[in-house]
Amino acid sequence: MDPIQTAESVLLEAKDAEKGVKDQNSLAEFFNRFLSKKGKASGLMALMREVKAENKASFGKRVNEVKSSIASFYEQKKQELEQKELEEKLKKERIDITLPGREQIQGRKNPFYQIIDEVEDIFLSMGYQVVSGRDVETDHYNFELLNVPKDHPSRDMQDTFYFDAEKLLRTQTSAAQAHAMVDNIDKTPIKMICPGKAYRRDDDDMTHSHQFAQIEGLVVDKGISLANLKATLELFVKKMFGEKREIRLRSSYFPFTEPSVEVDVSCFACQGKGCPMCKGTGWIEILGAGMVNPKVLSMCGYDPEAYSGFAFGVGVERVAMLRYGVDDIRRFYQNDERFLKAFPGK
Ligand code: PHE
Repeated sequence: MDPIQTAESVLLEAKDAEKGVKDQNSLAEFFNRFLSKKGKASGLMALMREVKAENKASFGKRVNEVKSSIASFYEQKKQELEQKELEEKLKKERIDITLPGREQIQGRKNPFYQIIDEVEDIFLSMGYQVVSGRDVETDHYNFELLNVPKDHPSRDMQDTFYFDAEKLLRTQTSAAQAHAMVDNIDKTPIKMICPGKAYRRDDDDMTHSHQFAQIEGLVVDKGISLANLKATLELFVKKMFGEKREIRLRSSYFPFTEPSVEVDVSCFACQGKGCPMCKGTGWIEILGAGMVNPKVLSMCGYDPEAYSGFAFGVGVERVAMLRYGVDDIRRFYQNDERFLKAFPGK
């Protein structure tokens, strides 16, 4: 075939093939067939040798026209397809901003932990250290070192979860007192609180839980007196329950403190006049405390002639119940959203 005719027929063939280009695949085929290195349009220039000298110029011009016609179709189609693809993608990924958003439910601290935070803040401001004790204790730390020997009747007061004869779940954070004194090898002064859980084999009801929390406090130094204990607790109670609150100490008994006291706070519901909350007495019991028993000091390595100390133990749920008017201790552990939402979150 005459080279000019070949060029024209390639152009016709390409025009015909253009109709079949509908997507990226057929476009790629079109490119291969006409425009790639071995493509039909690319091969046309090679026919120049067969063209007579006087026609070479016009043949070259025509071949260039054929090639650029096919190439411009290709470029245009390529852009068109890309644009179409982009539009489809945008359509598919469209975000419907008219849809109402999903409500974010915000969690908050259980009121019980809020109380612990508050108590920690109060005692930190008085220069106390916050220590963490251990839930699994030994008979030695939970009882023996606290002057509760094996046959002591007060062991019955605290029905214990035992793992074996020696290991148990601590029945009181007071075990942390013994640790603080024993672990302090240099026998330097101590000023600490220890918030944590305690466990007793109680049947759960409105006021009892087999697991509850206490905050233990211990101060050991030279010349510590009951007056220091009273002043400390007074300050604590005023910060916790309000400036108008007063405390009173009633004599009590704990084996690890001597003397021992039970501490009452003037009722914040009736301002001390007497109401159902304070059972008509005007006072509400909030914690147990006392001067560290000299026997305990010496068992834990302190010289009771040189050192004295005080200790106290606050029930966290009890404080939270009084502060927030909660009637059932079990609520703190049920994680009922309606209950948790009722408290000011921090
Ligand atoms: N551990 C005592 C209790 O659980 C409370 C207490 C602590 C009393 C410290 C005196 C000193 O009842």
